[in-house]
Amino acid sequence: MKEELKRFAKIAGKLLDAEKEEGVVAPVPYEELDKYLNLELSDEGISDDVFEEALTALVLRTPRTQTKSFFNQLFAGRRDKAYLGELLAVLLNNSMYTYKVGGPMIRVEKLILNKISELIGFEGDTEGTIAPGGSITNYMAMLMARDRYDENAKLTGIKKALVAYTSEECHYSVAKNAAFCGLGRDNVRVVESDMHGRMRIDILEKYIQEDIASGKKPFLINATAGTTVLGSFDDLEAIADLRDRYDVWMHVDAAYGGSVIFSEKYRHLVRGADRSDSFSINAHKMLATPVSCSIIITQHKECLYDSFSNEASYLYQGDQDEINPGKISIQCGRRNDALKFWALWKSIGTKGIADIVEKQFAMADYARSYVEKNSDYTLYSFENSVNICFNYKDVPAEELCAELYRKGRIMVGYGHFKNDSFVRLVSVNHGTDQTDYDAFFKQLELTAGEIIANRS
Ligand SMILES: Cc1ncc(COP(=O)(O)O)c(C=O)c1O
Repeated sequence: MKEELKRFAKIAGKLLDAEKEEGVVAPVPYEELDKYLNLELSDEGISDDVFEEALTALVLRTPRTQTKSFFNQLFAGRRDKAYLGELLAVLLNNSMYTYKVGGPMIRVEKLILNKISELIGFEGDTEGTIAPGGSITNYMAMLMARDRYDENAKLTGIKKALVAYTSEECHYSVAKNAAFCGLGRDNVRVVESDMHGRMRIDILEKYIQEDIASGKKPFLINATAGTTVLGSFDDLEAIADLRDRYDVWMHVDAAYGGSVIFSEKYRHLVRGADRSDSFSINAHKMLATPVSCSIIITQHKECLYDSFSNEASYLYQGDQDEINPGKISIQCGRRNDALKFWALWKSIGTKGIADIVEKQFAMADYARSYVEKNSDYTLYSFENSVNICFNYKDVPAEELCAELYRKGRIMVGYGHFKNDSFVRLVSVNHGTDQTDYDAFFKQLELTAGEIIANRS
C-alpha cells in the first residue's frame, strides 16, 4: 500500500497544480473520450507505468469541482482536514453498522449527531443517522411519517389515504420518494410558492383542509430551508403551527441551507426548526465536507427504530442497539461519512464552521450587489440567500452557461423560477474572495460579448 500512497501523492500533486494553473478543465465530448484516454478493460493486466499514465490522464481530464471557477453545484471548496479525514476513512474501510466493526467511529458519528441536534434546538432524547445524500434523508423522513400515520404500512402496504405537502420549489427527491415508498407521486400536493420562492402558507392550509374534508389524511409537510434554485427559506414557524393544528409530521429539508444553524447571524432563517419532527442537513454542501455527508435528526427516536430496524443475527452480535447504528439505518453496509466532518469540526471548532457559512453569505452579498449595480444585468434572487440568479443583457442563460463550459472557463448552471430562466451562481466555496467573483463576471461578460458578436 505504501507504494500506492506514493503514487497517490504524485497524481494528486499534478491535479493540485492543474487546478491552480487552469481552473476547471475544458470538457472532452463523450464520443471522443477513447481518443484521449486509455479506459478500455481487457483480459490481461498492464504494467504499473502504463497504469499510472492512464490513471493520471483520467484524473486530469475530470471536471475540477474544487477550483475557484466551479460554481455549478451546491458543493465546493476544499478543506484539507476534511479531506484528510475522508482519506483515512477510505483506508480504514469500516462499515458503520455495529460498534464491533466501527469502534470509536461510532462515537465520532454520535457526537456529530448530538451537536447538530443541539444546534437545531431540539430537546430531549433525539436520534439521527448519516445517509448517502439529502435525497435519502428526505426519503427516511417520508418513511417515518408514513409508518407513524399508517402503522401497518410496512406489513400490508399503505391502506390509508395519506397525502404529503411540499412547495413547488422543493427538491425533486420528494416526488421520487413518494413513488419509492408506495405513496404515489399523485398523493403529493405541490403548493405554490410566493414571489420569493417560499411555500404559500395560506394555500398549504387550504389544501390540508380540503383533503381532510374529502376523507384523506395529511401525514407529511416537507418544508425547505434553502431551496435548490433560489436558496429561499420556508416560514418554519408558520408551518410548525399547521403541524400542531392538523397533527402532521413536519420534515425540514435543510440539505442546502441548514448550515445556518452554525451562525448566530443567520440562524434566524430556520426559526421554528426546533418544532419540526425531523431535520436533514448536508455537510457536503455549505459545510465544506467532501460528498457525501447527509445527516438526519428526529425528535422521535422510536420512529427511527420502528421504520428502519430489522433483526439479523449474523450481523448484530453483541452490544446494545444504541451503539449499533445499523438498527436505525436505511442501509446495511454504510460508509464512514462521519470522520471527514468530525476532522473538520474538531480542527476549527464550531466557530470556524460558522465563519465558513458567514463567508459564503458575505461573498453572495458581494456578487449580488455587483449584479444590482450594473444595468446590463437583471437580478431574480433575494437577500439572505447564497444563490445569485441573474441574466446578462439578452443572452439566454442556457446558451451562456453552455459556452462557458465548452470553453473550459467557468462551470455554472442555470435555473428556472415561475416563468423566468437565469444563470444560477452559487456562493458555496468559502475559499473564494471578491477577486474570484470579479474574475467570474469578467469571463461571463467576455463570453456573452463573443456570443453577441457571433450573431451578426
Ligand atoms: C433542498 C435540497 N434537498 C435535497 C437535495 C438532495 O441532496 P443530495 O444531492 O445529497 O441527494 C438537494 C440537492 O441539491 C437540495 O438542494
